[in-house]
Amino acid sequence: MKSVVVGSGAREHALAHVLSRDSDVIVTPGNPGIPNSTPRPPLEIDADLFVIGPEAPLVEGIADQLREQGKTVFGPGSDGAQLEGSKAWMKELLVEANVPTAKHGTFTKEDEAISFLQEMSAPYVIKTDGLAAGKGVLVTDVLEEAQSAVENYLSGNAFGKAGKTIVIEEGLIGNEISILAICDGTKAVPLSPAQDYKRLLDNDEGPNTGGMGAYSPIPSVSEEFVNTIMTDAVQPTLQALINRGINYRGVLYAGIMNTASGPKILEYNVRFGDPEAQVVLPRMRSSLFALLHQAAKGNIEHSPDFSDDVMVTIVCASQGYPEAPITGKVIQGLDKARNQKGVEGIFCAGVSLNDNGDLVTSGGRVMTVTGKGSTHEQARANAYKSTQEITWEGMYKRTDIARDIK
Ligand code: AMP
Ligand code: GLY
Repeated sequence: MKSVVVGSGAREHALAHVLSRDSDVIVTPGNPGIPNSTPRPPLEIDADLFVIGPEAPLVEGIADQLREQGKTVFGPGSDGAQLEGSKAWMKELLVEANVPTAKHGTFTKEDEAISFLQEMSAPYVIKTDGLAAGKGVLVTDVLEEAQSAVENYLSGNAFGKAGKTIVIEEGLIGNEISILAICDGTKAVPLSPAQDYKRLLDNDEGPNTGGMGAYSPIPSVSEEFVNTIMTDAVQPTLQALINRGINYRGVLYAGIMNTASGPKILEYNVRFGDPEAQVVLPRMRSSLFALLHQAAKGNIEHSPDFSDDVMVTIVCASQGYPEAPITGKVIQGLDKARNQKGVEGIFCAGVSLNDNGDLVTSGGRVMTVTGKGSTHEQARANAYKSTQEITWEGMYKRTDIARDIK
């Protein structure tokens, strides 16, 4: 069997790592840290399964193009990808499906947006409707900051077209959990939940990022909780998609805030989470290839099975991430770090080769190091021990990933 993973990040590296247990994997375009990376366009490659990693090509319709060529694709078409491509569209669908979510309003006019905002209380949440490379969400307790974001978003100054429509939301308070469901168009099965760390600094301080680390499983999240999310959120969402004529074959990533009044959907993503994929997928005992292949064909036969192993991943980032990462720094110690006991994998994202053939940093999140163990403590120790071998000038990581387990 042959699979193609489309994308170039640590998530795609983790997908390839687990798919390669029972298929030959090519990653396109990949990066110099991912084995079998090739810049060949996916349409020119023959394979039994295509797995699309990032949201942007999904929104642009890569899955539709591949399906038109008769390929078997895991990833929604551009119609279903609107769940992530337009927050206004997603919120409308959630309301229609009666899925618990934050109260919100959608605006294109500044005066209407400001008066809505003034009626809300802190924390204020302002979101671009369109994709903004993970930077389009502001959560703040300061009304003036929220007001100036409204102006900057709607004027197009901050995010161009993506911010010309905005969603203003009630700020939800609670613990955030990621549950990823694999969908075959009509049915969905959950993967084991993951805890992501969104903030840049220790103790959940500093700006929001794409994620600085993760662990799985989450001991406090019961099977019953996961089933509630499936019946109250994922299934009604799939049904609302079906009602719109959308055949959603891909991953539905539910970002959940577990509030005092019960779990609410913060967001849907149409892709695997990064760094969640780096802890959830390697824990699968059943075949990832078989699951994604069945979903892509429209018929999931079995729920996936997970090992009791714990995985913890630490994101190693460039100095200046997320605002202005400083790149081009030579990376050392990767092989030694990878060969340590208790390391599941080191998944590469922002890396490239310089003129001397050295591996150098080329992005904000450079790599994630996944440690495993029979306890959270052991997996955490293995992951952190491995990161100590890796060096480049200005490397940054949080020091408290999986320290306090929920
Ligand atoms: P999103 O792009 O919608 O996933 O939002 C990015 C991050 O902003 C989420 O992962 C949350 O940490 C935070 N966030 C989004 N919406 C809300 C909300 N309504 N209340 C509190 N935090 C939020
Ligand atoms: N870790 C959050 C995300 O993938 O959106």
